[in-house]
Amino acid sequence: MGQTQCSWQFCARPKVISMHIHPSILSADFANLEKELGTISTADAVHVDVMDNHFVPNLTFGTQMVDRLQEVSPIPLDVHLMIENVDQYGPKYAELGVASVTFHIEASQNPLGLIKALRSQGSKVAVAVRPNTPLSQIEDLYPEIDMLLIMTVEPGFGGQPLMEETLAKVLEASNAIAERGMKIRLQVDGGVSSQNISRIAALGADTFVAGSAVFGSLDRDEQIAKLRSLAHNLA
Ligand code: DX5
Ligand code: ZN
Repeated sequence: MGQTQCSWQFCARPKVISMHIHPSILSADFANLEKELGTISTADAVHVDVMDNHFVPNLTFGTQMVDRLQEVSPIPLDVHLMIENVDQYGPKYAELGVASVTFHIEASQNPLGLIKALRSQGSKVAVAVRPNTPLSQIEDLYPEIDMLLIMTVEPGFGGQPLMEETLAKVLEASNAIAERGMKIRLQVDGGVSSQNISRIAALGADTFVAGSAVFGSLDRDEQIAKLRSLAHNLA
């Protein structure tokens, strides 16, 4: 199995699941983002971390930046919103035509309304949970989402080690999705590397954000292929 077959279509469980690698440009050279995007063209999507310095203690991109990234990127944008007032500002990212928008359950007062607003713009929708947020908080949302993001670090910065204690939640989420027979992608974000990706895939994750693991490599395409193979347990 080489390149993924499903891309942003969603593969049914428990058939053979395609593994998706989404490099995070948080670890890219911000002065050369178009060039950096060109080095990850074999990835399934580029993960764009939007931070507002309130929901997390870091500040990154706004809508203007994401709009430009969308224009120059050779691959779809997977936008991860780490912002307050996401019910109000989240739809502005979907309006840009990005492939997918992820919001944090902790930041939304009206998740069902937000999902509807995001979907009406044509984007896929994902919900994210911080390391200490139990899955019971998103229980009602399974029928409404395309992807569930389990944070495996406290959101805010790249290059942190994966929190081992979050892996039980990856398995719990995988089982919850399988029990419901739903086509929901299961994404992990934070500290994913060639050292641990096989283990995380074995728990049921199928979509992997990798910032420092990809942008810290000299040959990004080679690293993306390696991570994908390891996730498929082929390496
Ligand atoms: C952290 C971000 C991540 C980050 C991951 O808040 O959501 O997407 O870029 O970086 P690594 O893969 O280096 O942990
Ligand atoms: Zn992220």
